[in-house]
Amino acid sequence: MDALVSLCKRRGFIFQSSEIYEGINGFWDYGPLGCELKRHIRDAWWKSVVQAREDIVGLDCSIIMHPRVWEASGHTASFADPMVDCKSCRKRFRADMLCEDQDAKLIKTDKGFALPDGIKCPACGAKDLTAPRAFNLMFKTFVGPVEDESSVAYLRPETAQGIFVQFQNVLAVARQKVPFGIAQIGKAFRNEINPRNFTFRSREFEQMELEYFIKPGTDAHWHEYWVAERLKWYRAIGLPEESLKPYVYGKDELAHYASACTDILYDFPFGMQELEGIAARGDFDLTQHQKFSGKSMEYFDAETREKFIPHVVEPSAGVDRIALALLCEAYREEWVPTADTPGEPIEAECGKQPPAGYEARTVLRFEPAIAPIKAAVFPLLKNKPELVAKAREVFAVLQRRWPCFWDQTGAIGRRYRRQDEIGTPFGVTIDFQTLTDQTVTLRDRDTMKQIRLTIAELPGHLANIID
Ligand code: GAP
Repeated sequence: MDALVSLCKRRGFIFQSSEIYEGINGFWDYGPLGCELKRHIRDAWWKSVVQAREDIVGLDCSIIMHPRVWEASGHTASFADPMVDCKSCRKRFRADMLCEDQDAKLIKTDKGFALPDGIKCPACGAKDLTAPRAFNLMFKTFVGPVEDESSVAYLRPETAQGIFVQFQNVLAVARQKVPFGIAQIGKAFRNEINPRNFTFRSREFEQMELEYFIKPGTDAHWHEYWVAERLKWYRAIGLPEESLKPYVYGKDELAHYASACTDILYDFPFGMQELEGIAARGDFDLTQHQKFSGKSMEYFDAETREKFIPHVVEPSAGVDRIALALLCEAYREEWVPTADTPGEPIEAECGKQPPAGYEARTVLRFEPAIAPIKAAVFPLLKNKPELVAKAREVFAVLQRRWPCFWDQTGAIGRRYRRQDEIGTPFGVTIDFQTLTDQTVTLRDRDTMKQIRLTIAELPGHLANIID
């Protein structure tokens, strides 16, 4: 994990927010490569959930909504984590995680929670912790110039509620019939007690949420359908089956209104952790908003002439966690044959030097569709104007379609290594032969094999692999 965190900073994937002021805990900035990576994740999700289907439409709601939204959803009253303070060093911790880290389980009581015996402060070791108490995770702010109770508002802790609140407006314009869905991507904010594991638990993060509205009674079918669909999507973007695990909630773990919930977990270096939750939430959310707003949330089925409040299945994923999982999955330290040694890359052995004829490389083996930069273009020599001009022509063609990188500095092998380290799947080299027969070499990041093809063939060849 340390090597990956260091690469993320060194190569411009992820920086600490406000770093020049010592940073701010739980907030992260995505650099030039990180924001491309996140954009490709969002695009892949949108393509699969909205664009490639006829039954799902998009929505983009405001971050700050009427405070009654959060009363209706239950967030004002109970979107809280149990928190404890160390009476000795005054540090603050999330009680359930503290117990988990010490192989214990937080005790549920009539009034809330209690710590089991023997739990220590991880900072100073004292066994002098307060009883757990609820800490609401919503960030509070004020709307308008007056800061009083009447102007309190919250940064949304999830994007989902915007979808429920706009259900009737979307239904009126989208010409959809149940079952149909509304999808949204956007920022969410939670004042996490202990942000940790790099970007995994942040205070500002991005969600991709789908509310799929269904006929009551079809919940189990659609829940199963969406778990299968979402697992397929994760495999397509480069997270293999063996790194993923669905966690099916037991009856006693479900919210009172939910009939099923499955989390999709990924095998991070710090343990199996959630990327996405897929919940069958019944009609809880729409019913709550109907109750609190006094506006009907009913749907009229023109075929059966029935009126009902639709049930919903909600696949809810986090962009930042998926980006981190893809970085973890893609990161490899390898030994690769030097220029005059034939062979394939082999996995490096920790702490050892590469064998004769091999050198070490760090590579991010992203799927081409997800890689931040799709191709790098290299004129073999930077001091040959005719090579540079031809390479510029090729670069212009590719750059129109994909994020590409221009590099004319250093030995060609070093230029390849720089791209390997950021996961660029293709290197295109323009050499003297290009000037005579209009062909270039195309190098594959993973096999390091090179083929020759014409400039005219190049965009089509790449499109078949990337798009
Ligand atoms: N509307 C349902 C909902 O918000 P959730 O399990 O609380 O459910 C959904 O959040 C997803 O949002 C999680 O699976 C995770 O990927 C992401 N997420 C939640 N809290 C996060 C945090 N503090 N930092 C980064 N991502 C987070």
